[in-house]
Amino acid sequence: MDKIRIVGGNRLDGIIPISGAKNAALPLIIASLLTDERLTLENMPRLRDVSLLTRILSNHGVDYSLNGKRPGEDHLAGQTIHLTAREIVDIRAPYDLVSQMRASFWVIGPLLARCHRAQVSLPGGCAIGTRPVDLFIAGLEALGAKIDIVAGYAMAEAPGGLKGARYVFPKVSVGATHTLMMAATLAKGETVLENAAREPEVVDLADCLVAMGAKIEGAGTSVIRIRGVERLHGATHRVMPDRIETGTYAMAVAMTGGDVTLTNTSGDLLRAALDVLAATGTTIEEVDGGLHVARDPATAIRPIDVVTEPYPGFPTDLQAQFMALMTRAAGSSRITETIFENRFMHVAELARLGAHIAIDGRTATVTGVPRLVGAPVMATDLRASVSLVIAGLVAEGETIVSRVYHLDRGFERLEEKLSRCGAVIERVSGEGMR
Ligand code: EPZ
Repeated sequence: MDKIRIVGGNRLDGIIPISGAKNAALPLIIASLLTDERLTLENMPRLRDVSLLTRILSNHGVDYSLNGKRPGEDHLAGQTIHLTAREIVDIRAPYDLVSQMRASFWVIGPLLARCHRAQVSLPGGCAIGTRPVDLFIAGLEALGAKIDIVAGYAMAEAPGGLKGARYVFPKVSVGATHTLMMAATLAKGETVLENAAREPEVVDLADCLVAMGAKIEGAGTSVIRIRGVERLHGATHRVMPDRIETGTYAMAVAMTGGDVTLTNTSGDLLRAALDVLAATGTTIEEVDGGLHVARDPATAIRPIDVVTEPYPGFPTDLQAQFMALMTRAAGSSRITETIFENRFMHVAELARLGAHIAIDGRTATVTGVPRLVGAPVMATDLRASVSLVIAGLVAEGETIVSRVYHLDRGFERLEEKLSRCGAVIERVSGEGMR
């Protein structure tokens, strides 16, 4: 298995292009199930999760193809993918596929909406928490579906089709909002989703669905109204920039010091995280089509407390990266995780590099240290893994991050983007490490 080798100590200077957002790309791909016409998605990131999901959808009957390189494009430019679900040939999403990617459970919404039946394996637990699907089930039942759990599968049917209804989410859920919004586009009558997720990825999905002929208002607020239509049609949609990738590189620059322009992105997508970063002493400026991030390595990193929250609050998907930054702060900070119950797995690995972190329930107290020292580390999820890369960029000597497949799920060409800016980072094949 490949590993990432980092030799810490260099500042970052240069340009990092930001890819299309993984967490927008996944529901957008699933939206292709809602129409028998072609959905074209531009600015697709080259990620393992994207290719896995397209393969999962092909099992339902979706044809997909990729455009080749176009004049003026380099290998970091987003891809264009075409998806056509002319006929849904299989309404079953089996365990061996859904267990590889939780988001594939979301197909339950479009399958029920279009075929009035779906049999989707429950995804099971996950490294960062139990991640139940009760809100999906309750919401789809509110739209008239009958759902039984049989042998690990959600067996769902809505004879005669889904019917619009009011559903109040008892808790904010991004995935359940995506799924119910997609399902409601083809339901009879009006659906009102209250306490809906306000994440920019929900807005991106709604924009695409509207381009496909859906009637949706209020996406990006906590009340979304969807008027069901008879059918949706093909469309072309550009995937929004990855706000988590943006925040991750901004934190890497804050960590190493330096001067980097992040292109193809927007500060509006992650205001809360950028405000926190500015408070640590990092300069953040909006520039045309991107962000300019700088920190003088001679200045101290100020410790700041953070609480993760649903959007527009500080994102849980940047918590581990921010914790890595705080390990080098001049003082103590408290980081509280409120979204997932087990999202501190990076703590023990950061400690291997010399970080001082104490956990009490949902809060980690990080006491900054003057130096980190490289070591072999590993992590069990995507964002935790990248937090170890950020720490490795300043750790003295060599840090080896294993289980690189986590990084490949969500960060396109991470080592290339960082090494172009001066970091000493490379991918080493498992063979080469022995
Ligand atoms: C999305 O996951 C993201 N994944 C996650 O990113 C992200 O961390 C999360 O939203 C929160 O922002 C994708 O978009 C593919 P939720 P999702 O439903 O939709 C509980 C990454 O690293 N809940 O908003 O699965 C749940 O357990 C990933 O890119 C229920 O209780 O998250 C959690 O505590 C990791 N019942 C909370 O809600 C349900 O039926 C929020 O989860 C559904 C969720």
